[in-house]
Amino acid sequence: MKSLATYSAYLETALQQDHFPPTPANLYDPLRYFLKLGGKRMRPMLSLMACKLAGSSFEKALPAALAVEYFHNFSLIHDDIMDAAPLRRGQSTVHEKWNANIAILSGDVLLVKAYDQLANYDAATFQLLFKVFNQTAIEVCEGQQMDMDFETMTDVTEKQYLEMIRLKTSVLLGCALQMGGIVGGVSDADARRLYTFGEQLGLAFQIQDDLLDLFGESTQVGKQIGGDVLANKKTLLSISAKSAAAPNELKVLEAIENTKDHKTKVEQTQKLYTQLGARAYCEAKMEFHHHEALKSLEDMELPNSKDELRELANFLFTRAY
Ligand code: IPE
Ligand code: IPE
Ligand code: MG
Ligand code: MG
Ligand code: MG
Repeated sequence: MKSLATYSAYLETALQQDHFPPTPANLYDPLRYFLKLGGKRMRPMLSLMACKLAGSSFEKALPAALAVEYFHNFSLIHDDIMDAAPLRRGQSTVHEKWNANIAILSGDVLLVKAYDQLANYDAATFQLLFKVFNQTAIEVCEGQQMDMDFETMTDVTEKQYLEMIRLKTSVLLGCALQMGGIVGGVSDADARRLYTFGEQLGLAFQIQDDLLDLFGESTQVGKQIGGDVLANKKTLLSISAKSAAAPNELKVLEAIENTKDHKTKVEQTQKLYTQLGARAYCEAKMEFHHHEALKSLEDMELPNSKDELRELANFLFTRAY
């Protein structure tokens, strides 16, 4: 079994070796900057591990892994514009450091770089990967649009929220795993199970991301704490807090929503969501999907050890960032 650190070092080396041209600097500098900020590299790691689980050498999945990481970084650069986020991975976001036009275009290049990576496979494999990748990319956009639409809606249900995060977050984890599995030659049935593992892991991961957004430490999370509250995002926290609130508490929630001072607004929301049991509710839901993910791993026919994927899944839920 390889350690997470081994995979992560392998990926960092590969990412550093992919050079961008020096000019136009305003196109490529943001990409060099953003990719160097790091990140957990969870998605490409999933691709490498799934390929190894299939009985193949993990290196075979490197282009697919890089494609997924480039796509993820592209989506983050654009997401930060959409969410008006000042911080990412502990540093200024691309649109803050440069501007929104630069962030749009450099993000676009990264999307194309993702496709470029897929072209490293033979025609038959490429066809299979291309299909999964394209479907996923469209679904991520659908999820992102739902996320934005929900900002101005007052009656978003838990079911709608779960579908939104399945699209904006889970499908890319599923795609990373399925592509690694395809490259490694898994059966169709196991490819589907890998996808389900990713889907459940992604639901747990996004619920945790929402928890960290409100209750994390900015120095550890690397993002602005309370960003979701300030943008009026609908999260499992906000939805469950609202449904647990008695009429008088709903009035308090409303008053907090109209608070102008950011610091006060975030602190009061933290307090009330905790009192209403929303924080505990989300932690339980996160655990539930984490365990569902682990269960779908056990259902796989492949005889090879699933320890690496299990370790990565468990590591993610001990993280503070
Ligand atoms: C952030 O993903 C976007 C979400 C889907 C919550 P990560 O938390 O995996 O971001 P990095 O790549 O590690 O920075
Ligand atoms: C991001 O969700 C999902 C995608 C980038 C597709 P968030 O907006 O919650 O991610 P963070 O919190 O900014 O990383
Ligand atoms: Mg965001
Ligand atoms: Mg967002
Ligand atoms: Mg978030």
